[in-house]
Formats: sequence, structure tokens, C-alpha cells
Amino acid sequence: MPSPVNPTAPIDHLITVEDWPPSRLEALLSRARALRSGASPRPPHTPAGLVHVFAEPSTRTRLSFERAAGLMGVRPSHLDAASSSLVKRESLADTGATLEAIGYRLVVLRHNVSGAARALLAGTRGRLHVVSAGEADRTHPTQGLLDLLTVLDHCPRFPDVSVAVFGDLAHSRVARSTLTLFSLFGVRDIRLAPGPFLDRLEPHDYPGAQRLGSDEAASNADILIALRLQQERWSTPPHNLDHYLEDHGLNERRLALARPDAIVLHPGPLNRGVEISDAVADGAHSLVLQQVANGVWIRLALFELFLS
Ligand code: CP
Repeated sequence: MPSPVNPTAPIDHLITVEDWPPSRLEALLSRARALRSGASPRPPHTPAGLVHVFAEPSTRTRLSFERAAGLMGVRPSHLDAASSSLVKRESLADTGATLEAIGYRLVVLRHNVSGAARALLAGTRGRLHVVSAGEADRTHPTQGLLDLLTVLDHCPRFPDVSVAVFGDLAHSRVARSTLTLFSLFGVRDIRLAPGPFLDRLEPHDYPGAQRLGSDEAASNADILIALRLQQERWSTPPHNLDHYLEDHGLNERRLALARPDAIVLHPGPLNRGVEISDAVADGAHSLVLQQVANGVWIRLALFELFLS
């Protein structure tokens, strides 16, 4: 398990889960648990200087960052990328410089381009910090952290668990962040069931994980994670999606192959009847809405580190 937190380590950004030492990730999880149990959020600096920049659709990430800010008494500004000067071809670097000059100190950034957060920072002078709210198919660190918190809540044997992930692993920023964290915290049995996305995975993707058929991956697994089909990131659709749920998704038959106390995660949004059945999404094993609720506490703990 992670070593004690180093309080002198600088906190500049959270763009990938690898940006932080495990000790700091562990401290963040502890603080999220305390806030969930009723601890009062620390007051923010005045002015907090928080701006949310969303250049891709979002429901739960965007609103849980907003709710977390509200719980700290901070009112974020919002830059809607589609109505910003980004559409007039202003670069991300110039946008970052502009936000810093206006006086913002923390950007929560969702973007569909890999490297967008680093590009935003390229124009700044060290006074603007970035937290990624999901970037392309690469990184979604706060989703990874809320997944880890949810699993730690429910799996007493963690990290001695078997994790099976079903679906569009080639395009999933969630799987990259969540499985990196699981590995960092000691999980050794990670099974990928990419189905028709197998040939879209690079050999170096998900180091240490096994690539299996969907039933084999589910067999005796403790944690089952279904991923949304990321159609917006496909250049061409894969073949053989006609019976996707039955062949590769998370339905009752496949769940029954797992351990009796297995838990089911899905980052959302759900495409019911596509990658997950209604019965599994709404069933006793599903922690989908607990994942959403934990997102508020992870993001509040994060805001405390950057804003107070
Ligand atoms: N899990 C996730 O990122 O969901 P949203 O796209 O709704 O924020």
C-alpha cells in the first residue's frame, strides 16, 4: 500500500493519475471519506479563481464539480467552449494565458483532444493550475479516483481481487485511469474483455493485464466494469456489433459467472441494452449511482487542495 503523504510535494495539476505520488492519492481518498462522513470543507482562498472549461458534453462530471464547488462556497465561472473564442481559432495556449491574466487560478478542463491540458498550460506563467475532467481517450483521473473509492468501500479483500473490464477499451479514458490506479494500489488480476475492439488495442495498452474472451474474463471475478461504446471516437465502427450485449456486454448470464458477491461498475452515461442490461444496471450488484455520489466527495477533496 502507498507510503505516507509527503506534505512538501508540490501540487500543480491533476492531468493523469500518474501525476501524483500514491501517498497523495491515498490522502485524497481519506479526505473524501471524511467529507462524506460530515467533515466541514475548508474555506477557500478569496478570491478562489475557479473556471470550468467544458469542450465536450458531460452530465455527472460537470455537475459534481459544480456541486463540490458549491459545498465549499465557491462559484465557478464557466467557459462554454462552443461559444468561446476557441471557435475563432484562438489556441489553447492563448486561452490559458488569457484565463491566467484575468486572474483565474484553477481550470477544470474537459476536452476531446489528447494533450489539451498541457497545451493550455503552455501559454501560462505558473499561476494557473489544471484539473482534468476527462481528456480525449487518454485520461479521466477524477473518475479513476471515484471508482477506486467505490471499490475500497465494497471490497474488503482489495487489492487481492479479480477485475474484469468489458467493451471499448481502445477508446476508454476511464479504463486507462481506473486500471492504472488499481495497479498502483496493488491489484494484479486485471482481465480485459475487449470483444470486437481487440484489434484496436495497441500491444502496449494496459500493461500487465490479460486479454480474454468475455465469459472467461467474468469467471469468478470480484469487480465487473462495463464501458460505454465510444462511438464519437470511432473512425469506422467495428464489425459484429449486432448481438453485442449477448456476446460481450454485461447481462445477467455473464454476471452469474462472477463471484456471488461481485460488484458492477459503469462510469456512465449508460447505454442500456447495448453494453449493460437493465437488470444488471439496476440490480443488487450495481454501484453505478454510488460511483456518481462518490464523485462529489473526490472533487470536493481535490478543490480543498487547490483552493484553500
Ligand atoms: N463518467 C463521465 O465522465 O460521465 P459524463 O460524461 O456524464 O461526465
